[in-house]
Amino acid sequence: MFNKMIVAAMPLVPKPIVKVFAKKYIAGNTLDDAVRVTQDLMAQGGMSTVDVLGEFVEDKERAIHEKEESGFVLDAVAKYHLKTSLSVKPTSLGLGIDWDFGYGNISELAEKAKDLGVFMRLDMENSPYTSNTIKAYKKLRDDGFDNVGTVFQAYMKRTEDDIKSLIDYKPNLRLCKGIYVEDASIAFKDKEKIRDNYKMLLELMLDNGMYPGIATHDELLLQFGEEQIKKRGLKNEQYEFQMLLGVREARRSQLLKKGYPLRVYVPFGEDWYGYSTRRLKENPQMAGHIVKSILRLNK
Ligand code: FDA
Repeated sequence: MFNKMIVAAMPLVPKPIVKVFAKKYIAGNTLDDAVRVTQDLMAQGGMSTVDVLGEFVEDKERAIHEKEESGFVLDAVAKYHLKTSLSVKPTSLGLGIDWDFGYGNISELAEKAKDLGVFMRLDMENSPYTSNTIKAYKKLRDDGFDNVGTVFQAYMKRTEDDIKSLIDYKPNLRLCKGIYVEDASIAFKDKEKIRDNYKMLLELMLDNGMYPGIATHDELLLQFGEEQIKKRGLKNEQYEFQMLLGVREARRSQLLKKGYPLRVYVPFGEDWYGYSTRRLKENPQMAGHIVKSILRLNK
């Protein structure tokens, strides 16, 4: 309850305080930071997917700038031989401005990624963009790009049908719970219902030979994932776990020690606020931390 109140009041929390707590969720301001964090992860046996922070871009110049920044990530992956994929927010590349413009940017990046042998994933944003993100994924595949994937959210009621519509593509799909605030008419709200749907969707993907990115820190779902891997005798090439930078790092190390393939989402850039506040809202201890900091600030 208290956490919920703090979450509602988050826009009132001064940005410098938010930044103190946001730091652990982002690699830093520059691409060099993302490279350094990735190299650390690789030393531990892990992989990364790098995201240039920025979303809901409304002007074309900015979207082109974002595309160029993501292109630099691809160059760095090749230059430093990183075990890294690229994650992009479709709206940062202009998908919310205009379909042809957005898809043009997305396919240009996919082409560059393909040339450099890098995998590129379209993150899934909020519901106004779900259909166009799936449409972009399908068009990329139809246009011959096999180095691309997207994301599905277990809280969305439509996800089962969406995944079924992709069976023939044998896709590489990240499965997460979903982070945006959606209406109860289109999204499950109950925690257990979302969990049950997650399990059902993961089984649907595995039953149909898809490659899942099991993206969660929920202990019950991690254990469910491990059980499925064991029960089905899956090889490391058939799935991966995915976690966010700064979240449940001890559990991450444990999964790596057990030999599971694991990729960490590594965001970097100046545009840290939107992403970081979403993470802070999910941290069960955040309310207490923030209140303590504000009190300290007012002393
Ligand atoms: P849940 O939120 O229940 O967390 C389980 C436990 O993990 C918590 O009890 C807590 O212990 C710990 N935890 C979780 N978040 C924490 C935090 N921020 N700080 C501290 N502890 C925390 N969503 C989306 O809509 N579109 C997308 O494209 C993506 N992409 C994506 C990539 C990857 C690699 C991951 C792991 C997640 C996403 N997400 C996402 C976010 C996802 O939808 C979801 O919001 C978060 O992963 C949190 O959900 P969990 O499954 O971890 O469960």
